[in-house]
Amino acid sequence: MTPENDYKKQAAVQALELVRSGMVLGLGSGSTIAHFIDELGARLRSGQLQRVCGVPTSVETAQRATAAGIALTTLAAHAQLELAVDGADEIDAQCNLIKGLGRCMLREKVVVQHALQFVVVADDSKRVGRLGTRGPLPVEILPFEAGAHVRWLGTLGCRAELWLAADGTPLVTDNGNQLAKCWFTDGIGDPWALALQLQARAGIVEHGLFLGMATQVITAGAGGVRSQRCTG
Ligand code: 5RP
Repeated sequence: MTPENDYKKQAAVQALELVRSGMVLGLGSGSTIAHFIDELGARLRSGQLQRVCGVPTSVETAQRATAAGIALTTLAAHAQLELAVDGADEIDAQCNLIKGLGRCMLREKVVVQHALQFVVVADDSKRVGRLGTRGPLPVEILPFEAGAHVRWLGTLGCRAELWLAADGTPLVTDNGNQLAKCWFTDGIGDPWALALQLQARAGIVEHGLFLGMATQVITAGAGGVRSQRCTG
C-alpha cells in the first residue's frame, strides 16, 4: 500500500469509531471511502457492529457495500441520516471542500444534506490554504448544449474544459449528465460567491463546492491522525 493510501485508510478507520450499531449512514464515494466500507463490513461480520445500513452515493459504492455485506437503504426510507462519511479533493481551514473528482458530487450532496453529521476523511495532502489550488473544480452539467455551459464557466475566472474519458468522449455521470473541470490559476477567491453564481445558472446541475457542510474533518499523514471539529 502506498503511504497516501495508508493515510486514507487510517483516516477512514478513525471515522469508524463514530459508528454505532443501528445507525443509518450516508456512504460517500472514492478510494478513501472504499477503506471505510471494507472496515465497516469487517466489523459487521465480526459482530462488533450490528444493524448498520447505508445510503450509497454511487453505483460503485453500492456494489462495494453489497460485497462487504452492508445493507443498502434509501432516503425515501430514512429521511434523516445520523452520519454521512465521505472523502474530499480539497479541504480548507474552515472545513469548506471541493469534492467530485470521483464524479459523484451530485449524489454525495443529496445524501449529505440529509445527514446530521458529515464527517470528511482524507489523507492530509488534501488540506489547502485556498480551494482550487490543488486541482480543478468539477461541475456537473446538462448534456443538452454542454459546450455552451462550458463556455459560460470559462467566464468565471477559470479555464473550463469538458471532462473527457480516455477515448475522447465526454464522461457521463451515474445521473446521465456530463462534467466540466474549472482550473483556477490562483485558487478560488470567493467560493461562496462562486457557488451562488453556479447555483443560479440553468444547465449547471451541481458543482463540487461543499461549503459549510462538513461537521468534522479527519485527516491522516506522516504526523498521525488529526480530527478537526468544524464550526461553520
Ligand atoms: C467523489 C469524491 C471523492 O470523495 C473525492 O474525489 C476523494 O476521492 P479519494 O478518496 O479517492 O481521494 O468527491 O465524487
